[in-house]
Amino acid sequence: MITTLRLSANEEGIAQAAALLAAGKLVAFPTETVYGLGCDASNSGAVSRLYAAKGRPSFNPLIAHVAEPDDAHAIAEFSPVAQHLAQAFWPGPLTLVLPAKNDGPVCELARAGLASVAVRMPASTIALAIIRAAKRPIAAPSANRSGHVSPTQAQHVLDDLDGLVDAVVMGDEAFIGIESTILAVEGAAVTMLRSGGLARETIESNLRAPLLFPSAVSDGSPIAPGRLASHYAPQAPLRLDATSLRDGEVVLDFAGQLAGKISGAHRIDLSAEGNLVEAAARLYAALRTLDALAPKGIAVAPVPNQGIGEAINDRLRRAAAPRG
Ligand code: TXA
Ligand code: MG
Repeated sequence: MITTLRLSANEEGIAQAAALLAAGKLVAFPTETVYGLGCDASNSGAVSRLYAAKGRPSFNPLIAHVAEPDDAHAIAEFSPVAQHLAQAFWPGPLTLVLPAKNDGPVCELARAGLASVAVRMPASTIALAIIRAAKRPIAAPSANRSGHVSPTQAQHVLDDLDGLVDAVVMGDEAFIGIESTILAVEGAAVTMLRSGGLARETIESNLRAPLLFPSAVSDGSPIAPGRLASHYAPQAPLRLDATSLRDGEVVLDFAGQLAGKISGAHRIDLSAEGNLVEAAARLYAALRTLDALAPKGIAVAPVPNQGIGEAINDRLRRAAAPRG
């Protein structure tokens, strides 16, 4: 175990975080989607420690975070469509999987040996300031133990990783609350590998074309393992599309659908008004809170599949999947 520094989300804390990252340390910091666990993406020693701290298999590649679009161009080859998407949606909750540039800065271990590389320019001002001051691309998976619920608060990071990482920047709640949308761009073909904070409809109306669905496994390589079965999972089993309650269950509700059907059971409503953006922002904290009650199970009300609801349902399905 090591001592995990708590850094303030102010100028001094940002400078400390950047210096630690430049020195090959592991530093968790807030982004607008979820908290990330950052390290120097060009330092394979740091990346290898990061995989170990998360308990993440090293065949699951990381996203390289940049503070400027230009820095992404040093990492990856941008087709005109990729360029268009970056211009339209960066900074923001969009990750692009693109062909890696020869001799680019992101080390092979961070790319899990793939010929492609994932890049994202986050919108969070704290994240941008840290990456800019570190002067290098920052590999940052969500700052949770591998397979567990992603963190939207600094305390969630400490609950999972205190004593395993060098520092945590104690910032505000991640306001989108669900990970970035991941698009693989091959020439003009755009495939959605993971739904996320940027809604499918928004991207499709911008491109004036439907996004492609991934083929199961394209060439035998593990594509977006975050898409695989059990992930984002609490301890308690989830029961989706619940319309009534079973003995010993607690309730994850949406728009009050289960409010009248519980007798004294603990209930969290993701959004009493039925607002999907609010529901996404509260999802992971609610799963952690309900899980901490050690219930027999979590009954989950149906959530509409529009907009960011697609990502909410994706994460709920994975959280409910049989554990590997
Ligand atoms: O919002 C986010 O994206 C957050 C914040 C911290 O930026 N990060 C995040 O990272 O969610 P992570 O590591 O939890 O998820 C990254 C996903 C993984 O499912 C990984 O398999 C996929 O991106 N990925 C990374 N590089 C890839 C590549 N070259 N091809 C396909 N998938 C890739
Ligand atoms: Mg993750």
